[in-house]
Amino acid sequence: MTTRADCARLDDTDALAPLRDQFQLPDETIYLDGNSLGPLPITVAARLQRVVAHEWGTNLIGSWNSADWMRLPHTVGNKIGSLLGAGDGELIVTDSTSVNLFKVLDVAASISGGARDVILSERDNFPTDLYIAGSVAAAHGMTLELAERGSVATMLDERVAILLLTHVDYRTGAMHDMAATTAAAHAAGAVVVWDLAHSAGAVPVDLHAADADFAVGCGYKFLNGGPGAPGFLWVHPRHHGQQSQPLAGWMGHAAPFDFTPDYRPAIGIAGYQAGTPPILSLAALDCGVDTVLAAANLGGIAALRAKSLALSELLIELVEPVGREHGLTVVTPRDPTKRGSQVSLSHPANGFALMQALIARGVVGDFRAPDVLRFGCTPLYTRYVDIYDAVDQLAEVLGSGEWRRPEFSRRGLVT
Ligand SMILES: Cc1ncc(COP(=O)(O)O)c(C=O)c1O
Repeated sequence: MTTRADCARLDDTDALAPLRDQFQLPDETIYLDGNSLGPLPITVAARLQRVVAHEWGTNLIGSWNSADWMRLPHTVGNKIGSLLGAGDGELIVTDSTSVNLFKVLDVAASISGGARDVILSERDNFPTDLYIAGSVAAAHGMTLELAERGSVATMLDERVAILLLTHVDYRTGAMHDMAATTAAAHAAGAVVVWDLAHSAGAVPVDLHAADADFAVGCGYKFLNGGPGAPGFLWVHPRHHGQQSQPLAGWMGHAAPFDFTPDYRPAIGIAGYQAGTPPILSLAALDCGVDTVLAAANLGGIAALRAKSLALSELLIELVEPVGREHGLTVVTPRDPTKRGSQVSLSHPANGFALMQALIARGVVGDFRAPDVLRFGCTPLYTRYVDIYDAVDQLAEVLGSGEWRRPEFSRRGLVT
């Protein structure tokens, strides 16, 4: 069994350890929730101060040109694209993941619909994906069908126009094989939309190698862009110009400052914008993405992935004996090729209270109904000793029964 001293040794020899200094992390807190909201990069305060005081405060509206505000959705988009195997100019930061999903699903339905009238997804997919897919299906006279995990392939038939999947499952951390699944969908005649919310900045993704059609994802998770950071959207170049997206706003116009009454969509990814870009949020996201890109000369995403798997492997090894004693089961796949950058535990009766008691001890994960405790293993700032101490605290919470205290069952708006 790995000891705390072993973990300390792993930290001492970890080439990625200096990346932790990029973040403001409170003392006495072990933060294992970067899969939900990344922590604050230390560069954000100065960057926002500059944008607010200089670009906005002094240069005012001129900054749309002089500070290149107009290009920011593309410049940050290209940085994110470089982590996902997207070509330059193929990925844009805009709107929320939910809104972006609506746009790409609507385009996919127009391209691939016709005789095909099914959008296929998974029952356990993130709810916003299912709600948005349901609304697009209704608008196009299609049906949303839901596969159980593991049975997508058996439901890919000649009725399926679109396969919509989240690459890394938000609840369990289980990861699809993007290339194989995309190939199976294409062979069945469907286009594929990937939600990369729990993949971007966390696991290696190569959209072109996988021959994906569309992708969306969040800026506030592993990309550390801050609460409510805008999302991103990618479209394979073969689908550019085939069909314009449904939210025809002026920022998606080929020439917004011509102010013509007729809509003429920009060809390419620029056409997927609708309204004015949120500059303050984009500036913060730019800093967040840079924290991931900072790993470039330390082995890049491959090195981050290797450390992430070592952390999740350690967590699973340490938690299993504790779990056996107290009715906790690991629901994240043991096969490292089949999991993302989190470990999830199920405790059917008292998962919520357990997590609250753990948070009260300074170990921050989160809870997802009905029974899942999630622990993000973000390699940019998580130390091996953090994993050791987190499991130690969990064992104490379980052993002492302190989670039974009434305050730990009180639910806030967010779990
Ligand atoms: C898989 C997945 N998709 C989408 C979202 C949320 O999208 P939005 O940023 O529109 O709230 C989440 C949020 O946690 C998610 O886990």
